[in-house]
Formats: sequence, C-alpha cells, structure tokens
Amino acid sequence: MDYANKVVAITGGARGIGLAMAQAFHTRGARIALADLDGAETAAEAFDGLGVTVDVAVDSQVAEFVQKTEAVLGPIDVYVSNAGVLMTDEPSWDAAGATDANWQLVFEVNLMGAVRGARHVWPGMRERGGGIFVIVASAAGLLAQIGAAPYTATKHAVVAFAESLSIAHGDDGLQVVCVCPQGVRTAMLGDSDDGGIAGVDGIVEPAAVADVTLAAIEDKTFLALPHPNVADYEMMRTGQRDRWLGGMRKFRRKMMSERGRPL
Ligand SMILES: NC(=O)c1ccc[n+]([C@@H]2O[C@H](COP(=O)([O-])OP(=O)(O)OC[C@H]3O[C@@H](n4cnc5c(N)ncnc54)[C@H](O)[C@@H]3O)[C@@H](O)[C@H]2O)c1
Repeated sequence: MDYANKVVAITGGARGIGLAMAQAFHTRGARIALADLDGAETAAEAFDGLGVTVDVAVDSQVAEFVQKTEAVLGPIDVYVSNAGVLMTDEPSWDAAGATDANWQLVFEVNLMGAVRGARHVWPGMRERGGGIFVIVASAAGLLAQIGAAPYTATKHAVVAFAESLSIAHGDDGLQVVCVCPQGVRTAMLGDSDDGGIAGVDGIVEPAAVADVTLAAIEDKTFLALPHPNVADYEMMRTGQRDRWLGGMRKFRRKMMSERGRPL
C-alpha cells in the first residue's frame, strides 16, 4: 500500500508500540498524529506531525483528537487504537479480588478507548468510501494473561469489538486489523526481565509488531500475530479447553515458585 500523504492517527503513540507504528508509517510517507496522556507533542516532532494530549477514557477528548487531526493534517486514512493499560499490581493479580477502580480504569482505556475511536473516526471514513482501523489488542485477548484478570477480560472484549466492527462495516469499506502480540519490549513489561507468561515465546521489539501489522494490512488479514504460535495456542484453548486451563494453572504455579510471590 502506498502511504504517501496518508494520514495515520495513533493513540498511546508517545512511546512503545504506538511510537514504533508511527515510525513505520512515517518511513513509508504517511503524515502522523499522535494522542497520549503526555508526551505526544514531543514525540510527534520527530515526524513533523501533530501531537495531542488525550485521555482515551474521555469521549470528548477522543472526538477532539479526530477533529483536530482532520483539520490540521486532513482526513484520517488509518486509525490505530493502541493506548492500553495492564495493571498487575496487587490486587489486580487476584482475579476475584481486583477492585472496581482497577476494573473500571482498564475497561475505560482498553475497551472503551477503541470504541470511542471507532465512534468518532468511522462516520468520516464511511463518507469517503472506507478506511483502516487497527486495534492493538493482545495475545491475552485470545488466550489469558496470568495475574491480570481485568486486562485479559478487556482484551477479549476488544477482540470481539474488532470482529464486530469488521462484520458491521466491512461491506462499507472498513478494513479492521487486530494485533495480538505476546511479550513486547516496552514499559508495559515493567521490571519483568523475561516478560513472565507474555515472554514464553520470546520478547519482540516494538518495530517487529509494527512490521507484522503493516503486513496484515497489505495481506488483508484480520489478525496480526507477531508471535505466530498464538494461533496454535488459541486452537488448543478452544478445542481442548479443560486441558488448556490445566496447563495454565501449572504454568502459574511454576511462575509463582520462581518469583516467590502470588500471581
Ligand atoms: N508490551 C507488551 O508486551 C504488549 C503485549 C500485547 C499487547 N500490548 C498492547 O500494546 C499496546 C501498547 O502498549 P505498550 O506495550 O507500547 O506499552 P506502553 O506502556 O509503553 O505504551 C502505552 C501508551 O499508552 C498510553 N496510554 C495509557 N493510558 C492512556 C489513556 N487513557 N489515554 C491515552 N493514552 C494512554 C501511555 O501513556 C503509553 O504511552 C497496549 O494496548 C498494550 O495492551 C502490549
């Protein structure tokens, strides 16, 4: 695909995977708009782009991001809903005990951030005959992240939302790509040197996630899997669910004994 002068808007774009996506699209000629809680303006300077301070948990701020991007750079061709939060601090590792505040924040950012992006960008795309909506979900959205029930549940929801978008608007020209990596070397992995369960198949660089995403756009495939094994694990999960759950409990016990703390 020729990205020359295409407009690409990316949430959570100030660092990590979002920033790598910006680099990849910009290298191919795109004009870049970044939204983030902080640091978007500075990060956008590298691309001579637009940076906007946005909290994707607030609908009006996502609407303003879309409006401002289109006013300054032109109609959005590609929207990358990437902003996300993990929160593995106590008590979020306790599936039954995670607090309402924890669930609410993760829900508002991981799921509703994507919903709000689609709500505000799709009407314009539809009028123009279509567009591309990339959702950075996670392998946790197809499988499970040990020690992070709110993250896992909201990432499953965001995969389902991406499928719904594709079903509802695909015939009107919307291409949806759902990105589901395991471990990626970003601030989100925090102090974990091996990525925990996210690192079971190795930790990839953010640039590799961007490359796989652009390839999925090109190939018109819904899922972008930087760790290809995730497809096999998902087959196992859906085909042999009790065996898969047993394997996950075993893995959790192993991780807890290695770390000496609950997960
Ligand atoms: N790092 C991994 O191992 C991994 C694996 C699978 C999926 N992901 C997903 O990739 C996406 C990007 O994460 P990352 O790894 O680059 O982590 P990161 O923490 O480096 O980047 C996340 C970015 O999102 C921004 N953000 C958080 N809440 C926001 C909000 N309310 N509004 C606007 N911006 C907000 C942060 O400020 C940050 O710049 C997330 O959706 C994450 O769930 C990450």
